[in-house]
Amino acid sequence: MKNKDVVLSGIRATGSLHLGNYLGAMKFFAQLSQDGTKDCFFFIANLHTLTTKTDPEDIKRDLKEIVLDYVSIGIDPNVATIFAQSSVPETCELNWLLGCLASMGDLERMPHFKDKKDKKEAKREMVNAGLLTYPVLMAADILGPQANLVPVGEDQYPHVELTRELARRFNTIYGETFPVPDLLSGEAIRVPGLDGTEKMGKSDYNTIDLSDSSDVVRKKMAKAMTDPSRKKRSDPGNPSVCNVYALHTLISSGEELKEVLDGCKVAGIGCVDCKNIIAKNITNILMPIQQKRAELAAKGPDLPLEILHEGGKRARRTISVTVNEVKDKMGVPSY
Ligand code: TRP
Repeated sequence: MKNKDVVLSGIRATGSLHLGNYLGAMKFFAQLSQDGTKDCFFFIANLHTLTTKTDPEDIKRDLKEIVLDYVSIGIDPNVATIFAQSSVPETCELNWLLGCLASMGDLERMPHFKDKKDKKEAKREMVNAGLLTYPVLMAADILGPQANLVPVGEDQYPHVELTRELARRFNTIYGETFPVPDLLSGEAIRVPGLDGTEKMGKSDYNTIDLSDSSDVVRKKMAKAMTDPSRKKRSDPGNPSVCNVYALHTLISSGEELKEVLDGCKVAGIGCVDCKNIIAKNITNILMPIQQKRAELAAKGPDLPLEILHEGGKRARRTISVTVNEVKDKMGVPSY
């Protein structure tokens, strides 16, 4: 076993990142990479993206955007390894090797697969095999660098559980090789959407994007859904059913949060004022990120590719050691 913790997580490249990605995952990634005690790998899961997206130009553009997002939220590419999944062909080899240990039934029972399959079938679209084997590739992502800590949101827990199962199965059959990775829930939290849905990002019009100006934030918040039974300014509200209040609890603090809570309950504060406060607080979070991003953009369009190139080399060096060992143990070395 390694003595230094190895942290790995990935983000699927699908469009621009939003406040939900930041508060739910990326902020935590940055903290993990900054404490200096862990080896961190953060990648863009562009191979996983192929299960749902087909436009090559979109996929390439999103990849570069996420690299800049990673760096602008505080992940230093000289400290953590930032790379594209597609830069490491060894991960695909490991995907096959682990696939031969995975049970069809387990894969078919994954909630993510069932959900995607139902939606595709309802639209009479093809259910591609990548959707079924998605969690095996994820296990390869995690086990390749021998990660022992995996910070992910709740929706990914079943995938990490399957990874643990595959690691144990491999170790039992072929001898101790992989650490059985633990979930790192940390501050990973679910950020509600602006339209009253439970998760930001599940539909197109319920997000605050990391690139939104203060004006856009204010406008989006103004339209956000609140307690539906609070119709007039004089009606007392119920913060426990209000998505804007749920956002407040993640973003605002101290006296301000208390004023919003107490004020809402007795109609001391109206929804408009409450939304203005949160818009201000959101902008305060986004401003430094946007400033950093502008600085990075000023360094020219090649920067994300340079980061990916360096990160890819580093990731490959580590992952190929594991994959060679696995191939040897399974009796299929590169001759
Ligand atoms: N499936 C993850 C998501 O949609 C992304 C991902 C791919 C990932 N491989 C991973 C996350 C490995 C953690 C570890 O968010």
